[in-house]
Amino acid sequence: MVNLHTWSTCTLGHPVHLSTCTWSSFTLGHPACFDYHDAMMDSQNPTMVSPEEMKQNAKTEFEAWAGSYDRSLLNHFLFRPSYIMLMEEIARWYVEHRCPFRVLDIGCATGTLTGLLARSGWSVEVVGLDYAENMCHNARQKAMASGVSDTVRFVNADSEELPFATESFDIITCSNSFHHYPNQQRAVCEMHRLLTPGGRLIIIDGFRDCVIGWFVYDVIIDRIEHQVHHAPWPVVHGYYEQAGLQDIRRRKFNFLFPAFATIGDK
Ligand SMILES: C[S@@+](CC[C@H](N)C(=O)[O-])C[C@H]1O[C@@H](n2cnc3c(N)ncnc32)[C@H](O)[C@@H]1O
Repeated sequence: MVNLHTWSTCTLGHPVHLSTCTWSSFTLGHPACFDYHDAMMDSQNPTMVSPEEMKQNAKTEFEAWAGSYDRSLLNHFLFRPSYIMLMEEIARWYVEHRCPFRVLDIGCATGTLTGLLARSGWSVEVVGLDYAENMCHNARQKAMASGVSDTVRFVNADSEELPFATESFDIITCSNSFHHYPNQQRAVCEMHRLLTPGGRLIIIDGFRDCVIGWFVYDVIIDRIEHQVHHAPWPVVHGYYEQAGLQDIRRRKFNFLFPAFATIGDK
C-alpha cells in the first residue's frame, strides 16, 4: 500500500496528513474506519503529537481566538454557510417530527447557531458545548445580550467525553470542529449514544476530496492549524456506519472553502 505521508513529504515538501487507509478508501471505493492518531503512529510521522497534545493545541488556539472570532473573515466564507446548511437540515427534521426537541451543538464556539435556534420560534431546548472556556463565556454573554439565555446553556467539555445521559438529544450538530478531534470514531460513537431513537446527527467539515478542497484544507489550513485532520467522505461514512447510524447521506456546499455535511439517523 502507498504511504501518502511519505509521498506528500517528498513531492510537496510538506507532510499531508493522509493515511494508507484513506488511500484505500479512494482507490478501492469502500469506506474504511480511520483513527487519526493510530494512522499517524502507523506512518511513523516524526512530528506526531499525542491525542492530548492535539486537543491542547486546539484549546490554546481557540481560547486565544474567542475574542475576535465573530469578526473573522471565515464567518462569511465558511461558518455562515454552515449555519444555513444546519438550519435547513434541522428544519427538514422538524417538518417530519413536529414535536418539542433538544439540540446539542458540539464545538459551538461563540454560540451563533445556538442563538439562531433559540430565536427560531420552534419549541426547542439548546445546549452548546465547547472545549475552550473563553468560547463558552462569550457564548453566554451573547445569549444574555440577545435575551435567549433561558433557552440555551453552554457546557465546557471535550467532544470525546460528552457529559450527558444516553438518549438526551434529538439532534446533534458539529460544524467545522471535527478535524480537531484525534479520536474521531470515538467522538461519533459518543454522539450516537446521546441521540434518541430517530434522532439525527449532522457533522459539517471541510471537503478535501477535490483539488480546491485538498489545497485549502490539507495544505493551507493544515499549515496554519497544525495536527488537524479533515477526514474524507468515505472515512466519515465509515465512522457513522461503525457507530450504528443509518440512512447516511452527504450534502456538499461552498466553492472557495468547499464543505460537506454528513447526515445520519439513529
Ligand atoms: C472553527 S470553530 C467552529 C465553531 C462553529 N461550530 C462554526 O461552525 O463556526 C471550532 C470549535 O471547536 C472547538 N473544539 C475543538 N476541539 C474540541 C473538542 N475536542 N471538544 C469540543 N470542542 C472542540 C473549538 O474550541 C472551537 O470553538
